[in-house]
Amino acid sequence: MAESTKNATLSIDGKSWDLPIYSPTAGPDVIDIRKLYSDAGVFTYDPGFTSTASCDSTITFIDGAKGELLHRGYPIDQLAGKSHYLEVCYLLLYGELPSAEQLEIFESTITRHTMLHEQMVNFFRGFRRDAHPMAVMVGVVGAMSAFYHDSTDISDPYQREVASHRLIAKMPTIAAWAYKYSVGQPFVYPRNDLSYAANFLHMCFAVPAEEYVVDPILARAMDRIFTLHADHEQNASTSTVRLASSSGANPFACVAAGIACLWGPAHGGANQACLEMLKEIGTPDQIPEYIARAKDKNDPFRLMGFGHRVYKNFDPRATVMKQSADEVLDLLGVENNPILATAKELEKQALADPYFTEKKLFPNVDFYSGIILEAMGFPTSMFTPIFALSRTVGWVSQWKEMLNDPQNKIGRPRQLYLGNTQRDYVDIENR
Ligand code: CMC
Repeated sequence: MAESTKNATLSIDGKSWDLPIYSPTAGPDVIDIRKLYSDAGVFTYDPGFTSTASCDSTITFIDGAKGELLHRGYPIDQLAGKSHYLEVCYLLLYGELPSAEQLEIFESTITRHTMLHEQMVNFFRGFRRDAHPMAVMVGVVGAMSAFYHDSTDISDPYQREVASHRLIAKMPTIAAWAYKYSVGQPFVYPRNDLSYAANFLHMCFAVPAEEYVVDPILARAMDRIFTLHADHEQNASTSTVRLASSSGANPFACVAAGIACLWGPAHGGANQACLEMLKEIGTPDQIPEYIARAKDKNDPFRLMGFGHRVYKNFDPRATVMKQSADEVLDLLGVENNPILATAKELEKQALADPYFTEKKLFPNVDFYSGIILEAMGFPTSMFTPIFALSRTVGWVSQWKEMLNDPQNKIGRPRQLYLGNTQRDYVDIENR
């Protein structure tokens, strides 16, 4: 915990209280209000937690105004350009870039945990064929608690380590199998001779009837999607994982809770929502109508894939993802795809419109990742599962950090109660 360097003074009705202020290594100062209720008898009010630091952390730093995203201090564009997903996983989990030997051991450990317990096949088969893959992910990841009893004891550091490795290693297999089940194809088992990203593409697109060779450009683009989504500080799903874990729940249950939260269209579901919106728009000539709707205060419609709670100038992940989108579209020669043409024109028109520029609503990472995944041949329903598998390392790293934090206690927000005060029950015949 940081040392307090100065105080803020809160005055209410002539009485005042000193509140310690902590200075972080980067970002705004933080006022410690933990004793506020016991000392002053008041709560703070912050729906959506826009001004609340829920923990201290050394993992990820975001400066939304500057468009900066750092993992353990390293900028995301350097990691996306020079590193690869498993090295970033190591960095997030352990705090430093690995030596060559450490990386080799880590990669080998993850690779050797990619298979699922064979009985889990039966679990997959219990879902309706048309189940959304996110529904399958929530269920199967939660069910890992029932298959891997030897890594659910959170008080044992060894079990915590094994659970972390299992989650990172098995998530691609779970996501790929959710996809295979939804399209009625046989499950493809993991291949240890392929990279993490290539193995995932292979499990998704290979069939027993013929050989499937993963294109290295697509494997690289897939790896970048994983890397760019690996962690994002205390976002909704990560906070959900931390809150679930604060009660002492096992890691598989906590990550399943994170997946459920990620599913929503304002969070991880945005890339699916974005592609569905592009399909609804249909052709570039329809764009002005949709832009007008997005600007209309009386219409709840928003341009999906635009705007961000934290990045108010640009999303640094979107900059890298845009390059990847260009590479993939060049490789696959899909410039004439009407959805992708609509996406390019929408980007152009929105960025030229003062409504969007003045409100600092720029395309976010999901706008471009949706385009790449569409071009690769993934159905929109797989976009959020791919986000979930990428974010697993972030959830796990934050979960581990929280369990090692001596200040860790059960999360229990308060409320501004505006309901009725006590009143007497009225019998039904008198209502
Ligand atoms: N289209 C049209 N108007 C918008 C949009 C949009 N996509 N986003 C925000 N606005 C307007 C909003 O109506 C408001 O206008 P006013 O000030 O006149 O009332 C203003 O911009 C500020 O909006 P806000 O809702 O207060 O901003 P927020 O920071 O709470 O919301 C957001 C951020 C991401 C939920 C929102 O921008 C949004 O719904 N975007 C579309 C969904 C999306 O792409 N989400 C993915 C986020 S990136 C993935 C991740 O990291 O999880």
